Amino acid sequence: MKIIFLGAPGAGKGTQAERICSELGIPAISTGNIIREALSNGTEMGLKAKSFIEAGKLVPDDVVIGIIKERLAADDCAAGYVLDGFPRTIPQAEALDAMGAEIDRVVDIEVPDEAITRRMSGRRVCKCGATYHMEWKKPAKEGVCDLCGGELYRRKDDEPETVLDRLKVYHEQTEPLKDYYDKQGKLRIVDGDKPIDEITRLVLEALKG
Ligand code: AP5
Repeated sequence: MKIIFLGAPGAGKGTQAERICSELGIPAISTGNIIREALSNGTEMGLKAKSFIEAGKLVPDDVVIGIIKERLAADDCAAGYVLDGFPRTIPQAEALDAMGAEIDRVVDIEVPDEAITRRMSGRRVCKCGATYHMEWKKPAKEGVCDLCGGELYRRKDDEPETVLDRLKVYHEQTEPLKDYYDKQGKLRIVDGDKPIDEITRLVLEALKG
């Protein structure tokens, strides 16, 4: 099954993608994670993306479309995947259609802006990819990753002011995708302002219907 997760920054796309992918045995593809990895490895693409990502702006379409084209050609995508954070603009969605992706479902995880701001300010991450939350997903030892012992930090783009910019970008450039996929009959909306397990149940239900 080929699935897209839409939703504002911090709506829980990454959290749910991980759960749904382990349930369905398909890969989760996060353009944000791919870009951050390139950034920490200092690759040419990472350097190109740095100023955009840190300012809460979208990385140019041609860069992310190139990333996705290459990733979807990998063998592990043959049986399906969850796209987390792509597409984020109408040109990206059109490019995905032009690749012949034939997406089955688009799940929009809806969370009010006020709840997003609270979630993002409490998020802490580790360079190994693990994420935590200072209120409801604390590590056993403060500031230290349970999985690898690495030091936890706040993503630069999780600073409160940058979160507001990311929300603005989301409303202007990404929200129109709801209409784009609704017209294709693929859109399902899930209330993301609920406990994590409950959202997973709603997402699985949305994938059936
Ligand atoms: P990306 O990494 O995709 O960031 P994002 O969409 O802003 O998503 P986040 O990872 O911040 O949030 P999420 O929805 O995955 O939520 P999560 O599960 O982590 O992109 C970063 C940047 O890369 C972009 O700003 C852009 O610059 C660039 N980029 C990426 N893709 C691009 C594209 N296609 N085009 C152009 N540029 C692109 O949850 C958030 C927090 O909330 C966590 O702490 C979690 O524990 C907690 N949480 C989750 N669910 C719940 C819940 N139900 N209740 C309470 N807390 C919860």
